[in-house]
Amino acid sequence: MANYVVHGGKRLEGILRIHGAKNAVLPILAASLLSEESVLENCPDLTDVRSALRILEHLGCTTSRRGSELHISTQGCTRWSIPDHLMREMRSSIVFLGAIVARFGKAQLTHPGGCELGPRPIDLHLSSLEKMGVQIQEEGGYIHCVAPEGLQGATITLPFPSVGATENILIAACTAHGTTTLFNAAREPEIQDLADYLNACGASIQLRADGSIQVQGVKRLGRARHRILPDRIAAVTYLCCGAITGGSLTIEDTLPDHYRAVTQVLEEMGCRIYCEPHRIHLTCQGALQAPASVRTSPYPGFPTDALAPLMSLCTVARGTSIFVETIFQSRFKHVPELSRMGAKIRLEGNVAVVEGQEALTGASVCCTDLRGGAGMVVAALAARGRSTIAEISHILRGYEHLDRHLRQLGADIVQEGKDVEQKKDEGYEQEGS
Ligand code: EPZ
Repeated sequence: MANYVVHGGKRLEGILRIHGAKNAVLPILAASLLSEESVLENCPDLTDVRSALRILEHLGCTTSRRGSELHISTQGCTRWSIPDHLMREMRSSIVFLGAIVARFGKAQLTHPGGCELGPRPIDLHLSSLEKMGVQIQEEGGYIHCVAPEGLQGATITLPFPSVGATENILIAACTAHGTTTLFNAAREPEIQDLADYLNACGASIQLRADGSIQVQGVKRLGRARHRILPDRIAAVTYLCCGAITGGSLTIEDTLPDHYRAVTQVLEEMGCRIYCEPHRIHLTCQGALQAPASVRTSPYPGFPTDALAPLMSLCTVARGTSIFVETIFQSRFKHVPELSRMGAKIRLEGNVAVVEGQEALTGASVCCTDLRGGAGMVVAALAARGRSTIAEISHILRGYEHLDRHLRQLGADIVQEGKDVEQKKDEGYEQEGS
């Protein structure tokens, strides 16, 4: 089992570059099933990305990585079912459904199951695909899909701008017969990146100003090369690391426009932030002020994935802050662990009341989920003394070389033990060497 050991109190200073967005590369890997050959640049090496690559290889695709460049060829792709153990590795594997039905006219997957954030229903995914001519039967945990007449264009209105459902519909609509119009679609930047990749493959997707999306079905998609957009949640996580240590940080190859809702709160707290189109500078001197309240909502609102890192910052800000989570049921799962470091947080349903303290104290804590784990690292960087953060496999799902980047900025953080994927790499190296 792998842990981080952190000795808090070091001021972060320096420049870092953000890796490609996990939540863009995952749906694009699923969509690559519709293209013969794809080259994806700026792909982070994350455990969730490796899970998605294992699904593609199970289906018969060949994949290879050269640094941050992934090559996917689907010529050998003959399977249309994903076994349970692969579906359960990563909750967002449901995003393969639309791509498999689009390629084969049928698909068999198992329910991806819940995750640390609570139940992760897929009713919007399934009901939308049914509107596109897919017959769906759920039996014994399996989802059997078939489109006897092929996928048909449809007009769909989502009751909630679900990111995953928007992605499944977008991918399924690319080669459907006719036009698909999607209202109340998710507007996250990762949706735009998926559309850019699919259009590079020859799809005809239009994201309209009113938030709707129109897709004209085309016969087939060709080859494409696409650069994954930078990870906005990784960027705000590092900004919180810089802010909590009273540091001075420059992040390059980032798009500040994609996380204005977060930088606005950081400025409200007293951070000085200067943005350029692809770069952001943060300096933070003196005590932080607690923001009035933070309410998560779909893009362009405050992103739920940024709640945990920002909450850690608020545990040592002056005053009381109120967090209202509107997306996931168990977004506060990490709070009891944070309290072991002296954080004063009261939970009432989907509301968290944070009373800022002078300082936190290092402790032994355990990650409960990806962003909660990142929040623990933010807190440990400023806590007095030593912290041990266990179960960092959660963090490795979404942050590439987090400890290495933080060390380069001056943090005292090391990884103890190896994660399963890192052991595989070693095993692989031993075989290969
Ligand atoms: C995506 O999850 C992201 N994951 C999440 O990031 C992110 O927090 C979330 O969007 C919201 O922005 C990836 O992109 C891989 P949703 P997704 O469908 O697609 C309910 C991270 O830490 N819902 O917008 O699962 C659902 O229960 C992860 O990187 C239904 O009820 O999000 C939830 O309450 C965590 N029925 C809400 O909608 C459905 O069919 C948001 O879900 C689908 C969703």
